[in-house]
Amino acid sequence: MRLDKYLSDMGAGTRSELKKEIRKSGVSVDGTVVTDPGFSVSASSRVVFRGTVIAYEEFVYYMLNKPAGVISASEDGREETVVDLIPEPKRRDLFPVGRLDRDTEGLLIITNDGALSHRLLSPKHHVDKVYYVRVSGILTGNDIELFRDGLVLTDGLECLPADLTILSVSEDEYTSEAEITIREGKFHQVKRMFSSVGAEVLYLKRLSMGPLVLDPGLAPGESRRLTPDEMALLGLQVSI
Ligand code: URA
Repeated sequence: MRLDKYLSDMGAGTRSELKKEIRKSGVSVDGTVVTDPGFSVSASSRVVFRGTVIAYEEFVYYMLNKPAGVISASEDGREETVVDLIPEPKRRDLFPVGRLDRDTEGLLIITNDGALSHRLLSPKHHVDKVYYVRVSGILTGNDIELFRDGLVLTDGLECLPADLTILSVSEDEYTSEAEITIREGKFHQVKRMFSSVGAEVLYLKRLSMGPLVLDPGLAPGESRRLTPDEMALLGLQVSI
């Protein structure tokens, strides 16, 4: 791979900035100063840029606690995206694994690993997603059964069986809190499921996706790299 791409993949700057800097100041590759941005390097090259060794990582994985008000996209000309929330330096090829609605909070994986994304999102794999939800309306045991049996939404969509756990009910406020586990991820799925039993979602937060659980230490808008243990849970190779 080209030296400028290597450095830009590792978040050192844009390709055009890097081309200029490499030509002007040079970069040490395996002990030799290189001023050609197209110089061929590999993941095992020893690249020293601005006095720091830049090791190449093919894939990177972040856990983000998505805040409300941000869209689940890589970039958008006008609006702040979930990838904008990842602190610099960061790779330019990051994207979110799936989408949460603008007003939904909680666990979102940000990565450049398309295979992981496919594994977690493919409808064939039925990955469990757990959400905390507050709704207007009083949830009952009957709703638990309806969710368990597989709801049919007003537009005819047949949902896979879902687990509903009612956490609390407030007759005074006419609201309920619950956790729901779904195994698919259709557009507005949770909101539409509750709507079909006459409850409007007031607040929605994703707590987990497959074996990956949202770190309670992450405030909305905060992110961090996945730990080696979390990567292993997702079946990812952990490099030491
Ligand atoms: N279901 C929804 O309705 N919205 C989300 O953001 C996620 C799941």
